[in-house]
Amino acid sequence: MKRAIYPGSFDPVTYGHIDIIKRSSKLFDELIVAVLTNKGKTTPLFLADERVNILNEVLKDLKNVRVLSYDGLLVDFAMEVDADVIVRGLRAVTDFDYELQMSQTNSVLNRKVDTVFFTTSLKYAYLSSSTVREVAAYGGDISKFVPPYVEKLTYEKFGKKGDK
Ligand code: COA
Repeated sequence: MKRAIYPGSFDPVTYGHIDIIKRSSKLFDELIVAVLTNKGKTTPLFLADERVNILNEVLKDLKNVRVLSYDGLLVDFAMEVDADVIVRGLRAVTDFDYELQMSQTNSVLNRKVDTVFFTTSLKYAYLSSSTVREVAAYGGDISKFVPPYVEKLTYEKFGKKGDK
């Protein structure tokens, strides 16, 4: 059984993340989408449990994908769920330094864990969760960035109705 983890903040999940999840889930028996905390980031828009619920809803058709959250080190979580591969997406060269540093730190922390990188589809290369939050905060149209279910909940967080 080859199990991989796709970790992230997913605050909120975007079409860019979903693209990586769909493509990477084809390569493994099971893909665990893991909601983790990046301590460098400020107060999230959605609580971890809310992000798990959202991910479960938007990924419900992907049968070999499981969503979990974890409060701790990614490599410890990997050992807990018996996964030795971490999947990350690279959007542009600007992601590279940070991702390389993170994958090397993780491999120093635990040699058994490897990171594989997927290049994000060109269609979503510009996208980030903070862009989605920023546009939604002003009531702008986020329908090209996130699925309708995420769109609705994101507007609700900001007390906006959006463009629709
Ligand atoms: N499409 C669209 N956006 C994407 C994307 C894609 N394919 N891939 C990444 N992004 C965006 C995210 O939306 C996010 O945007 P934001 O910064 O505007 O919110 C950004 O790129 C990167 O975020 P994410 O992929 O969620 O990772 P992260 O850097 O927030 O967090 C963790 C990385 C959570 C995996 C990392 O902090 C971690 O492992 N934490 C646990 C503690 C630990 O082990 N720390 C040591 C690690 S060295």
